[in-house]
Amino acid sequence: MKDTVRKLLVHYKGILAADESTPSITKRFSDLGLVSTPELNKEYREMLFTTPDIEKYISGVILFDETLRQKAQGEPFAEILKNKGIVVGIKVDQGLESFKDTDQKTTKGINGLKERLEEYKKLGAEFTKWRGVINISDLYPTDEFLDDTLGKMADYAKIVQDLEMLPIVEPEVLYDGKHTNTRCEEVTTKVLKKLFEILKQKNVDVTNLILKASMVLPGKDSGVSVMPLEVSNSTLRSFQNSVPQEVFGIVFLSGGQAPDQAIFNLNEIVKLNKEKHFGPWDLSFSFSRALQQDAMSIWSGKKENVIIAQEKFLEVLKKTSLAREGEL
Ligand code: 13P
Repeated sequence: MKDTVRKLLVHYKGILAADESTPSITKRFSDLGLVSTPELNKEYREMLFTTPDIEKYISGVILFDETLRQKAQGEPFAEILKNKGIVVGIKVDQGLESFKDTDQKTTKGINGLKERLEEYKKLGAEFTKWRGVINISDLYPTDEFLDDTLGKMADYAKIVQDLEMLPIVEPEVLYDGKHTNTRCEEVTTKVLKKLFEILKQKNVDVTNLILKASMVLPGKDSGVSVMPLEVSNSTLRSFQNSVPQEVFGIVFLSGGQAPDQAIFNLNEIVKLNKEKHFGPWDLSFSFSRALQQDAMSIWSGKKENVIIAQEKFLEVLKKTSLAREGEL
């Protein structure tokens, strides 16, 4: 597990989240007028993974179940990635369901997890991801909900570590909503504090996991935009008050921010932590939309667009790689 952490957290490199579930990729494709099918999903992911030189900027890729079982030009995707020195990961939660007739959604997927992990390991996966979703409103999140969804996240992490695979725990505090930056910081801190309390209670080794976190931002519909320096201060303060020092790395999701917004915020967070040492964690990226959005829309399902889409993908990766060092 330590070895996998070391392979994933490398200077100038981060993790590509390419683990959109069937409903998520269906939505992304339909925004471009495309219909998602396993074949089209495969062509799209082949475009991403065969982009020359991605291994200079990507240390790991998180796949969805369908993709881990697919081949391109006769070769499994897991092999294509491994041959480039990229570590293969897999999303293992099974999406969300309503929590007790509230607007809060808890994560599914504990049932049969051990058996699925054993198969994923044989298919070449070395690390795993589990996403929990926390939405902010005046009423939510409730303590009862957090105990439930973070409890499941900790159970997942324990099962994964018992099989000697590396877990990524992703408690995503959603960007949707009208909340203030202060409220987002308060909720993020509470969620992370509670998560690490529960992880310790359930005997999860916090030195053998990666935290995937959201940035502290005012709600998307709040009408307020904040500068990267404010985002970085509130995000790092939140971590300082909640994430144990023994955690080796924190990787960010992009959460529906515009690509440049996510990239510049990451740059500022890394820069500020280098200057002011809020914590010892290695900070990196595990974006999905911010890395893929432009390349996907250039590609638009057409073989003749593959090369220009790959050029765009590489350009965004290069920029994000510099942001990961605070060097933009
Ligand atoms: P975004 O970067 O698009 O938020 O996705 C990250 C992710 O892995 C969500 O589970």
